[in-house]
Amino acid sequence: MIYKSFILPLAIAFLFVACTGSKSLQVSQDTSLLQTIDASFKQDAAQYRLLMKDLPPEKFPKNYNPKTAKLETSNSSWWCSGFYPGTLLYLYEETKDQQLYDEAMRIMKVLEKEKNNKGTHDLGFMMYCSFGNAERIAPKPEYKEILLQSARSLSSRFSPAVGAIKSWNGKPDEYLVIIDNMMNLELLFWATRVSGDSSFYKIAVTHANTTMQNHFRPDHSSYHVINYNTQSGAVQQKRTHQGYSDESAWARGQAWGLYGYVVMYRETKDKKYLDKAEAIAAFLLNHPNLPADKIPYWDFNAPNIPSALRDASAGAIMSAALFELCRYAKPSEGKKYFAAAETMLKSLASPQYHSAQGTNGGFLTQHSVGHLPAGTEVDVSISYADYYFVEAMKRYKAFE
Ligand code: GLY
Repeated sequence: MIYKSFILPLAIAFLFVACTGSKSLQVSQDTSLLQTIDASFKQDAAQYRLLMKDLPPEKFPKNYNPKTAKLETSNSSWWCSGFYPGTLLYLYEETKDQQLYDEAMRIMKVLEKEKNNKGTHDLGFMMYCSFGNAERIAPKPEYKEILLQSARSLSSRFSPAVGAIKSWNGKPDEYLVIIDNMMNLELLFWATRVSGDSSFYKIAVTHANTTMQNHFRPDHSSYHVINYNTQSGAVQQKRTHQGYSDESAWARGQAWGLYGYVVMYRETKDKKYLDKAEAIAAFLLNHPNLPADKIPYWDFNAPNIPSALRDASAGAIMSAALFELCRYAKPSEGKKYFAAAETMLKSLASPQYHSAQGTNGGFLTQHSVGHLPAGTEVDVSISYADYYFVEAMKRYKAFE
């Protein structure tokens, strides 16, 4: 009896309507997950205060290996340098912990010079996750200048002959583009909005269209690397770098593609991008190798499934992306995306993937895989898993 009289009002109380544009999605949130998230923000702020204590002044946290108790750091030019300030800012927003904000400001001064870095395609990750969030939280003219200069540097890597931004610098006749590059386009959309210069927008759309044409297989899984001919733009090779094999579905690559096309739809409202994002979601969520807790194996075709390692980072990116996709899709589909993203988030917030207070060198998540074929960052805590985990929690809370 007590059970029934408790559950009914709760069920009513937690039937929320989240309005987005012309569509609305009715979702029923899990009260215990909401409580876990609130506790997690506090715990995670304490974890990042621990992480910042051991950080050499000019360095950025990259990963932590619990087996060796080793923190690996990087310089500002490493592709992950924006995630640390980005996570600090996300946690500051939730906790108003001034120490986190001050630390973000300190490390962003070290990061700022990368606005002129034309040797990487990762400026979206590096500068938009950091300065983009700083600008959103408390705008300053200097952030705009830094972000616009970053967008110019990123655009300098675009080739009209290929119709894409170059990811990696290869041999002269090889123009290498990776699916991950979809994540750097958000910065370009921001730059057109703020500057009125449509060239950034056009580069983003052209890159996304070229990627849609060449990176995907008929089942909507994606290759990791496309090798284009630098002069003609012809596809010369489709292969992997971090996945199990050229024809396998490397989990994080699939996550980057999903997130990337959700952003493309948000920024352009072109239905073909929504269709693409939903097709990728269908591939992932209906895949027989997606485990019940919905945290993918590091590669959907890893040979030793079910003993293969999981990749928490891929789960975090997918969860964050699906919490946005569910708002754009038809309600019947949106509910499925929301439910899947919620399951992923519950798993990530459980002790299996969420670091216990004071462990993992201050990182928030555990069990990510960076580059298994190279034997680097295998089953460790990684900065980008933390960033997208916190983003997924924020997006879940935003349905309240
Ligand atoms: N290249 C980015 C990643 O490892 O996902």
